[in-house]
Amino acid sequence: MISGTTKICGVMADPVEHSLSPLMQNFYAEKTGVDFAYMPLKVAVEDVEAAVLGAYALNFVGMNVTVPHKQQVMPYLKEIDEDAKAIGAVNTLVRMEGGYKGYNTDAAGLLRAMREAKIQIAGEDCILIGAGGAAKAAAYVLAKEGAQTVTLLNRNVGHAMVLAEEINHRFGRPVMTVLALSEYALLPKKSYLAIQSTSVGMYPHSDHAPIEDPDFYRMIHTGVDIVYNPMETKFMQYVSAAGGTVMNGFTMLLYQGITAFELWNPGVKISPQIVEEAGMQMRSRLKG
Ligand code: ATR
Repeated sequence: MISGTTKICGVMADPVEHSLSPLMQNFYAEKTGVDFAYMPLKVAVEDVEAAVLGAYALNFVGMNVTVPHKQQVMPYLKEIDEDAKAIGAVNTLVRMEGGYKGYNTDAAGLLRAMREAKIQIAGEDCILIGAGGAAKAAAYVLAKEGAQTVTLLNRNVGHAMVLAEEINHRFGRPVMTVLALSEYALLPKKSYLAIQSTSVGMYPHSDHAPIEDPDFYRMIHTGVDIVYNPMETKFMQYVSAAGGTVMNGFTMLLYQGITAFELWNPGVKISPQIVEEAGMQMRSRLKG
């Protein structure tokens, strides 16, 4: 029940109609008994500033920000968390004195999901496929958690160089190197943890993977796909067929939302039982 004391949050996006966040966040509120409501807010690119200032004026506790506003929102914030600054994108706003503070819970969500799946990063040789927004969060997590090496494979080598240089500079060690996607056969023969962060293989293009060569997948002991629709991507099928362990992006999606809910409601914890129930509800809404 919404009352005079209900904390209000929402997700700013365009389009917003397919967002699973309202379902997920209102479910957490109901299950934890927090007086909280979360709404879909369709905001056009040219209205981002007005939307952020307006939400603050209307006493919104916070906001999620998604495509295409994750960078555009940054100039209108009072403060930006260190991780979000490093990743260069914000997906969660939290109300503070005088404005919102921006966070990036995508990286935290990926890390929590990988920990949950008992996937180790420290000391690992890693492959990261893709160099877009999702790759940036993944690269940051891998470097920060102590990966031994990260080879960035991308179609456009220029995009990959920019990301690799940024990460190496930030962490003060040459952890990241770049290869063109088509040059994957030049990878040293090792056993890798691989993260797939491109949109290749996403519904409705579910019968594609960024590399269509079963030999490549023999080098991968664990494959993480950031795509969550379909639940089992072609990339994951290749990794499994070669004997590797797989994880998809669904748990990351769940945990980025949980991390945001916890930022808006300090002290409230979402139990593993609630996480599981939320996952079931959300899965039933996915097409593909
Ligand atoms: P996101 O924010 O979801 O990561 P993005 O910033 O547009 O989206 O990044 C998309 C990533 O997927 C990029 O690495 C892109 O490769 P390029 O840098 O070469 O453009 C990659 N990508 C998209 N379509 C691809 C395709 N058909 N084959 C290979 N890589 C693709």
